[in-house]
Amino acid sequence: MKAIRLNQPAGLEHLEAVDLPDPGAPRLGEVRVKVKASSLNFHDLAVVLGHMRTADGRIPLSDGAGVVEAVGPGVTEFAPGDSVVSTFFPGWLDGVPLVADFSTTPGDGIDGYAREYVVAPASAFTHAPRGYSHAQAATLTTAGVTAWRALVVDGHLKAGDTVLLLGTGGVSIFALQLAKSMGATVILTSSSDEKLAKARELGADHTINYRHTPEWSKTVLEITNGRGVDHVVEVGGAGTLAQSIGAAKVGGHIALIGVLTGAAGPVPTAALMAKQIRLQGLIVGSRRHQIDLVRAIDAGAIQPVIDRSFDLTELRDAFSFQKDGKHFGKIGVTIG
Ligand SMILES: NC(=O)c1ccc[n+]([C@@H]2O[C@H](COP(=O)([O-])OP(=O)(O)OC[C@H]3O[C@@H](n4cnc5c(N)ncnc54)[C@H](OP(=O)(O)O)[C@@H]3O)[C@@H](O)[C@H]2O)c1
Repeated sequence: MKAIRLNQPAGLEHLEAVDLPDPGAPRLGEVRVKVKASSLNFHDLAVVLGHMRTADGRIPLSDGAGVVEAVGPGVTEFAPGDSVVSTFFPGWLDGVPLVADFSTTPGDGIDGYAREYVVAPASAFTHAPRGYSHAQAATLTTAGVTAWRALVVDGHLKAGDTVLLLGTGGVSIFALQLAKSMGATVILTSSSDEKLAKARELGADHTINYRHTPEWSKTVLEITNGRGVDHVVEVGGAGTLAQSIGAAKVGGHIALIGVLTGAAGPVPTAALMAKQIRLQGLIVGSRRHQIDLVRAIDAGAIQPVIDRSFDLTELRDAFSFQKDGKHFGKIGVTIG
């Protein structure tokens, strides 16, 4: 089967197309999946660029969607022909988080989905939403589940809440669609006026260019009549957290999911305390979270935003495109 592997030292030029042995038939509790699509996340780029260490020859990409070709003995949840989507933590099925790293994550600690076939435990997949293409389903593993957990699982989002989203990457755009579908008001920031216009077309109620308005927390307070927002989906980290704390309401919730501005930095702890903000770090979510997200999508009408798609053979170009940062929402990868 065709696959892409990442040789060390990492770097886009060390992504190599290879022919690997077919993984064969599924054994007890396993499924054999023909992988049809993946999507790129900031984490995948970090692995490929060597910002996160991984094993020599690792097959990249955390997200995978495709069709079940065969099921092993004991598998009752899936049947051949089912459309499925992979989970970010194959061993975290339900309940509280189990790991604080990426040692079990496909495309990082274990091989990912830049390949045509996978044989894995059935619990490493869920059903895909009804009517979704494989490309759409592949956006759920990381970006979709993260947005769902930030807003719904940890945030207990309800209609009427106000949500602040930073930037227009995969997680933020999925969070925009989710928040709007659930009756929230959305304020979204971006470095690009063109992207802000696209976000308004998707339903963003208020938009702010964070380059033109570096003190955007003040604008958020003006928009919310001094109250502040109920939820922030924080992708910036240290460089944006002070503004997010300033923009949150007293007793608000900040989901700290990204560190785009750097891994550490000063945080206004007194303001965080005085405003009694709930700051919740998170990494994606469990299989149960993904099942609940799929159920919500089945009941609603969210269509993931895929800016551009690349063939697996063009994976290097796909990562270069991501690195340039011109994308809006997700970047897709078609396989096979
Ligand atoms: N913890 C988790 O579970 C989890 C899961 C997924 C992603 N993440 C993290 O979340 C972040 C975004 O991931 P992604 O996959 O959505 O990335 P992505 O699709 O590559 O998008 C990155 C976007 O972030 C925006 N951005 C960059 N610097 C910013 C800043 N200083 N302020 C506001 N926005 C900024 C840019 O939006 P504009 O071009 O509009 O300015 C950029 O397009 C990354 O740090 C990633 O590691 C965490």
